[in-house]
Amino acid sequence: MASGSLHVLVTAGPTREHLDPVRYLSNESSGRMGFEIARAAVEAGHRATLIAGPVHLETPPGVERVDVVSALDMLAALEEHFPRADAIYMAAAVGDFRPRERLDGKWKKKEEGGAPAVLELVENPDLLRTITRDKGDRKVIAFALETADGERRAAAKLVRKNADWIVLNGASALNAPESSVTVFDADGALWSAEGCPKRETAARLIQLIGPHGPTPS
Ligand code: CTP
Repeated sequence: MASGSLHVLVTAGPTREHLDPVRYLSNESSGRMGFEIARAAVEAGHRATLIAGPVHLETPPGVERVDVVSALDMLAALEEHFPRADAIYMAAAVGDFRPRERLDGKWKKKEEGGAPAVLELVENPDLLRTITRDKGDRKVIAFALETADGERRAAAKLVRKNADWIVLNGASALNAPESSVTVFDADGALWSAEGCPKRETAARLIQLIGPHGPTPS
């Protein structure tokens, strides 16, 4: 690794919470923001490990990729990789709930006998909060997707998730090539990017963890 370069861990995409072998709960996340951050990290001379939920995106050059499906899979991958990282960008849209049980066989509608079907959900752990209990001096960048009262909620999430910065997105960022973001630290808003290509925003976000590039030879 070039001197001054860091090991950057990035999560991206949705999670899938299966209720049987063929059905799952998920969300609209495309994974683009996280993939662009991993690309930007490598372009800035860092080493990048990308923990990706199920997405249809090519791995950016030079990025080490770990594929996961569910929130619990993502937690296991984070527990393995976070201790070796210097910074984490938690861009994944982690499912907040999973079905209480995953059936081995297909859920058959005739078993419900015409009654309304009930799907019991249990809460997934907060992955960021879990891994940042042993954060040390690692830099933590959380993301917040809010549809209302964004600034106040993002500030509360920054504290709750033990993050150094939080990137506030609106729902229009989901599955789109561009996004409008505002970045906050504990003292308030630092900068905003309105309708910017995710690649440009990613390059700016990588600068949060320190200015440097590959050492000139
Ligand atoms: N996150 C996480 N574990 C979860 C849910 C979210 O680590 N179970 C992370 C996301 O990757 C993101 C940040 O926490 O970096 C905020 O995610 P968001 O979905 O906006 O918030 P939630 O914690 O789910 O809170 P709420 O549902 O109240 O908005």
